[in-house]
Amino acid sequence: MHKRWLLTTTWLLLGAGVQAIADGNPVSGTTSLLQEGESVYQQYCASCHGSQGEGMPNWERQDDQGELPAPPHGPEGHTWKHSDAMLYRIIAEGWRDPWNKTERLTMPAFGDILTPAEIRAVVAYLKTLWTAEQRRHQEEESQNEPFPP
Ligand code: HEC
Repeated sequence: MHKRWLLTTTWLLLGAGVQAIADGNPVSGTTSLLQEGESVYQQYCASCHGSQGEGMPNWERQDDQGELPAPPHGPEGHTWKHSDAMLYRIIAEGWRDPWNKTERLTMPAFGDILTPAEIRAVVAYLKTLWTAEQRRHQEEESQNEPFPP
């Protein structure tokens, strides 16, 4: 019960920040944006990043191939350090760290799988995993680097 209340409050608080993303949709549309984002997340991202966004074990350590495992999306990770533009790009075009010893994209590209609206929705969901401070920082970063039009 308490947990449910907390979750609802988090969503409501986040609503203000997400409204810009929702492009003027009424606040009732904000909840469905997050629900859509969560369902995209569970379907396409949770297998690597964990159902709670906890990431893979030893995500900070390169594996035998010199590749980094999928990182967490919560406060302990660095997803929140990327602007909206960068997060969109990482998800649409995929990503690998330049120091990975392999050439492949360890983070697959979803540009042909997800619609632009679904990518925005999943980013909105990722934001629910951050602290208020991280959200504020990321929102500022995104003012000059927003989602692509
Ligand atoms: C096949 C496993 C896999 C799937 C599926 C996957 N990712 Fe990733 N993701 C990775 C890996 C591995 C990295 C780290 C790559 C690196 O830094 O070298 C990563 C990195 C990221 C980053 C950058 C995080 C940071 O801290 O810089 C974001 C954002 C991200 N993924 C979002 C998503 C989203 C959203 C989805 C679902 C649409 C998703 N990922 C699906 C493996 C995956």
